[in-house]
Amino acid sequence: MKAVEVSELTKVIKERIIVDRISFSVEEGEVFGLLGANGSGKTTTFNMLSGLLAPSSGSVTILGKTIKEMQRSKSDIGFVTQEDSFYETLTVRQNLEFFASMRGIGREETNKRIKKFLSQMRLTEKADVLSSKLSGGMKRRLNMACAIIHEPQVIFLDEPTVGLDPLVRKEIWAVIEELQTDKKTIIITSHYMEEVEKLCNRVAIMFAGRIVASGTSKELKEKFKLKQMEDVFAYFAKPVVE
Ligand SMILES: Nc1ncnc2c1ncn2[C@@H]1O[C@H](COP(=O)(O)OP(=O)(O)O)[C@@H](O)[C@H]1O
Ligand SMILES: [Mg+2]
Repeated sequence: MKAVEVSELTKVIKERIIVDRISFSVEEGEVFGLLGANGSGKTTTFNMLSGLLAPSSGSVTILGKTIKEMQRSKSDIGFVTQEDSFYETLTVRQNLEFFASMRGIGREETNKRIKKFLSQMRLTEKADVLSSKLSGGMKRRLNMACAIIHEPQVIFLDEPTVGLDPLVRKEIWAVIEELQTDKKTIIITSHYMEEVEKLCNRVAIMFAGRIVASGTSKELKEKFKLKQMEDVFAYFAKPVVE
């Protein structure tokens, strides 16, 4: 079974086509990169895939379920948003407890998972620190832990490393690689090509709401006779003029 199947997905907002008949599929256990400059429609796509935003047309299935079926049991997906979704006024542990309780996870299981996620996200030492006091990279990792505390099979990561310095980005990659060895299906948006080449099995490049190229990094470089993914990205992903 495919983990994610998207067919002719479209979003029109106030008569403007934001996402334009995109189709792609992602295998179970694959890391799939959705690439594109700011404004190309990546977050809008994620919002539709995770059931936050109704598509204007087209279809999505996640692990064989439609968005409607999925909305009844959102347990299969985790959406790590571009903006932090946790509470700055709570400690790291309190945030994890809060998100676990929202998912209806019992006390004993919550304690187990908190231990596991603190370790996986390299936050054990920071468990009782106020979330507002964390560094940028730690905040991204806490945001991830809160969004996947229910251990979903399919994880959407929207720009997980944007604005972080290269060293901190590498810490996040290590966490993503661990999730991958855990057999999770991961869809990631990014515009750091180094990250994409390292993490993604396949990619799709979006431009102005459309998918303009897709394949492995190697296939794309060969197809367009370019040496670097940076060049492939630059070729397609021109900034969208508003
Ligand atoms: N609710 C909305 N109303 C109007 N325009 C929107 C809305 N959501 C997104 N857009 C526009 O759609 C385009 C794509 O946005 P987005 O999906 O956030 O792109 P990306 O995540 O690739 O940067 C942008 O031009 C944005 O301004
Ligand atoms: Mg975005």
